[in-house]
Amino acid sequence: MPQFPAGFAWGAATAAYQIEGAVAADGRGDSVWDTFCRRPGAIRDGHTGDVAADHYHRWPEDVGLMARLGITAYRFSVAWPRVQPQGHGPANDRGLDFYDRLTDALLAAGITPVPTLFHWDLPQPLEDQGGWLARDTAYRFADYAALAARRLADRIPLWITLNEPFVVTTMGYGLGTHAPGQALMLGALPTAHHQLLGHGLAMASLRSAGARQVAITNNYAPAWPASDSPADAAAAGAYDALQNRLFTDPVLLGAYPDLSAFGIGNSPGYVRDGDLALISAPLDALGVNYYSPARLSALPDSALPDSPPPDSALPFHREPIPGYPVTAFGWPVVPAGLREMLLLLRERYGQALPPVYITENGCSADDVVAADGTVDDQPRIRYLDGHLRALHEAITAGVDVRGYLTWSLIDNFEWAEGYNQRFGLVHIDFATQQRTPKASFGWYRDLIAAQRT
Ligand code: FCB
Repeated sequence: MPQFPAGFAWGAATAAYQIEGAVAADGRGDSVWDTFCRRPGAIRDGHTGDVAADHYHRWPEDVGLMARLGITAYRFSVAWPRVQPQGHGPANDRGLDFYDRLTDALLAAGITPVPTLFHWDLPQPLEDQGGWLARDTAYRFADYAALAARRLADRIPLWITLNEPFVVTTMGYGLGTHAPGQALMLGALPTAHHQLLGHGLAMASLRSAGARQVAITNNYAPAWPASDSPADAAAAGAYDALQNRLFTDPVLLGAYPDLSAFGIGNSPGYVRDGDLALISAPLDALGVNYYSPARLSALPDSALPDSPPPDSALPFHREPIPGYPVTAFGWPVVPAGLREMLLLLRERYGQALPPVYITENGCSADDVVAADGTVDDQPRIRYLDGHLRALHEAITAGVDVRGYLTWSLIDNFEWAEGYNQRFGLVHIDFATQQRTPKASFGWYRDLIAAQRT
């Protein structure tokens, strides 16, 4: 592996609902994911995050694993329903105590804590009042951010406001395959703006509560047209606007991208004067999550009798990407897509692009503990190796990338897939909570050690 720049952060990432369990402990309230998991058929095999990896109780062991791994940064998320069980009002101190202890333990182990404030677990009482469809939720988010920062900001060098708002809008409110399970199609678009407004308002409240650096994490995918046809190029352009620009142009450029392919005009009613100024306040870093590219074709002919109704039709159709290995999830493994995406971001935003952290990148695999107690996850090692080489090429080409945090430290609750997709460097036996470092754990440990000498 080539040498990364001095001071480069080497880390791993997790999220509260995916690892903590203990959903009723210390005054935590319900989140939309608790509710969604109870909906019959919503989650594969009826799994829930009730216990997950029991990290809420086993965090000392998990911090010990991080120390053995030698990571210098750890991205976790703060569960809003632990801090404000009702989604508003004073802080539930017992909820904040957990993150306070975790932060101190990380610092004692020489690991930089990087908390994300919203990794999808919206307090259910806020969803009952409209969730991200309601503008008020953005203000509630800023209040919650201030409570977290007042407790932790003295020890946190870098905060992340939102994780992948694109996924919340599209899967949570557009398609209904994630919590809160609403299938509004393009009617979900106000949730994009309200999340971005929440990001802007939270940045302001974080800064006044003493936060040092603030970032947002988006997930990006190079949008490849399925053919050379102008129609497929337009489909790819529309997808690119939705995934790669909708949550980034407002933040870095202070303007929305052209959404006319979706029948959306330049200034929809839910965007008010002054919103974009808040949303585009200076950012210290951009979090980039990357898993694979997307390949798009134009819509099937809308005159066909079984085509979707016009108001639910999207101007693109996602196609498989043949010719690459796939992960256990079926996602194509395309390391060069990471370099392509980073170069595109730099070309698109130029001086407006702040330093980048890769805040997620990783691979699900069918990991099993062998009779001798080892987990030989060679596909994950190949995935990480390929993506780190592509990342290094992007850095060599001039993209300012400051760190890489792999998804994930430990196996966890993979949303609609339940426990059926394992992304961890550490295997979890969900029946016994036994932790077993995989071969990739040793590989990453050795890589970090070699990079840091
Ligand atoms: C990302 C999510 C993360 C995890 C990975 C596999 O979209 O941010 O929580 O589920 O995918």
